[in-house]
Amino acid sequence: MSNGPHRIVFANEKGGTGKSTTAVHCAIALAYQGARVAAIDLDSRQRTLHRYLENRAETQRRRDIALPTANFAVYAGDSVEELDALTTTMGADADFIVFDTPGRDDPLARHVATRADTLVTPLNDSFVDFDLIGQVDAETFKVRRLSFYAELIWEARKKRAMATIRDARREMDWVVVRNRTGYTEARNQRRIDQALTELSRRVGFRVASGLSERVIYRELFPSGLTLLDKGHLGELGTSHLVARQELRTLIAGLNLPTVATKGQLALEGVT
Ligand SMILES: Nc1ncnc2c1ncn2[C@@H]1O[C@H](COP(=O)(O)OP(=O)(O)OP(=O)(O)O)[C@@H](O)[C@H]1O
Ligand SMILES: [Mg+2]
Repeated sequence: MSNGPHRIVFANEKGGTGKSTTAVHCAIALAYQGARVAAIDLDSRQRTLHRYLENRAETQRRRDIALPTANFAVYAGDSVEELDALTTTMGADADFIVFDTPGRDDPLARHVATRADTLVTPLNDSFVDFDLIGQVDAETFKVRRLSFYAELIWEARKKRAMATIRDARREMDWVVVRNRTGYTEARNQRRIDQALTELSRRVGFRVASGLSERVIYRELFPSGLTLLDKGHLGELGTSHLVARQELRTLIAGLNLPTVATKGQLALEGVT
């Protein structure tokens, strides 16, 4: 079993749920904690994560500043072996490796998702997004059946527990993160809460609070900055302070190993 970098995979076969936004913020938050972070963008068409980090590098050059960041690459091919080789190379001197994946069914996204140490699935508060994980009854809102994707992850975890998937650790922590919250009507939100809780028991994921809907998340992209880049964002209003706190809560909710404990766990062969 490998003791390489902790693999965090942002995946959801639905488009536009906030994978890239949360992936970037997570990568930078870890870099701020002193971790060595690598990031691989598997969405070779949109390349949001890659472009975000390119913009960040450009801002550092333009302003002549040094910002914590991730070592990044995009993989545009279709070979699992090549991707694994890139993962090994980039992971060699990293504590964490972050994968951003496209919002559609994709063989490479499945490959990394089924081998994730932490699988993060951002979901908007909508049954349209929820459908990716499970179908709910139209009258009762009870979960009727699991989606193909939930079955896929369920199977992968079973195989890992039996060590049939050899290039992955045994345990996968699957975290469903609510993204862009705040605009849903309370009753709808309660129904989603209820259905998510029920489904989380059946499928074995955890639910963590994510980012709320804020314009700032859309505005930061051109500069590649994040809410954590305090001294470089200009005057911050209170809402941005709240936003930064919500980002910290999100990262804490992912329960990632800290760099120190990660080394310790690796030594003990627990991971
Ligand atoms: N918390 C948020 N508040 C406001 N806007 C957001 C938030 N999260 C994401 N967005 C915006 O929503 C859009 C989709 O987000 P993002 O690109 O992160 O999703 P994605 O899941 O990676 O999409 P895709 O499946 O197309 O790759 C972007 O315009 C992004 O700026
Ligand atoms: Mg994306």
